[in-house]
Amino acid sequence: MNKSSFFLPEQGSTIAPDVDSLFYFIFTAAAIIFLIVVITMALLVWRYRRRSQEAGLTPGKDHNLKLELLWTIIPTILVLITFVWGFKTYLKMNVVPRDAIEIKVTGKKWMWIFDYPNGTNSLNELIVPAHRPIKLLLSSEDVIHSFYVPGFRIKMDVLPNRYNVTWFEAAGEGEYDLFCAEYCGTGHSRMLGKVRVLEENEWNKWLEEGALKVNENMPLPELGKLLTEKKACNTCHTHDGSPLVGPTFWNLFGHTVELSDGSTVVVDENYIRQSILDPMSQVVAGYNPVMPTFKGLLRERELDALIAYIKTLKAEDK
Ligand code: CUA
Repeated sequence: MNKSSFFLPEQGSTIAPDVDSLFYFIFTAAAIIFLIVVITMALLVWRYRRRSQEAGLTPGKDHNLKLELLWTIIPTILVLITFVWGFKTYLKMNVVPRDAIEIKVTGKKWMWIFDYPNGTNSLNELIVPAHRPIKLLLSSEDVIHSFYVPGFRIKMDVLPNRYNVTWFEAAGEGEYDLFCAEYCGTGHSRMLGKVRVLEENEWNKWLEEGALKVNENMPLPELGKLLTEKKACNTCHTHDGSPLVGPTFWNLFGHTVELSDGSTVVVDENYIRQSILDPMSQVVAGYNPVMPTFKGLLRERELDALIAYIKTLKAEDK
């Protein structure tokens, strides 16, 4: 654990060894093939050099079945190994474990904002427990940024008007660099942060203290609940399961709904966001397309809050 190597930074996450071994496999294979080609070429140049003016031309060779099979089959096997190995690692990097702790990441010219489950937030410093899967829900308030932690081997675009997801599990306590990896304007090179990994009890303590410090910043689900009243969502949508002018919010998140054009969609963060900002684009079957757009009427954090609130409206898992 926490090994660093000649080419790569310290391995800070559980996925890092997988990424690194694949990198070194490709690197070693490429280096060996490079040496074979260059050394063979040099030997042939030397062996078949023109020795004198009188010597004739070497008879041309145009075919060698054994050699051709060799240099077709070996690279094909190498490429297949790389594909299967790479695809497995890709899946591992992209399927978020169910018990992951969700943290909202907001990119903004030129800083990082982190919102934790209990309403605590932090600026430019992501604080997480070790040995726990962490799901990051990423979006931007302005232009495209990119969330990059080399020590964890994760990089994910942070987009305006859309949520992206990535996850990691820190392999141990420590401090890691966080970079913005997408040119986002004059402050891009200063859009730096840290990821601080704490032991789980310490992290819980930090969360609680943080919540006290920022109790004027309401937790996202609470703010969302308040907004459904302030923005009058509740004149058309209930939160108890009964349909009104629009579908109820109760037990909505994560479920599949049928749309008026016959297609279906899973209610996730992006669907809710889309439905708030462009309500006519995906109307649920059986309802009239009468909802006004809330584009420009909600701040990013308010959208996040509504989504977080709708997520809480579900029957307890048994
Ligand atoms: Cu944000 Cu570059």
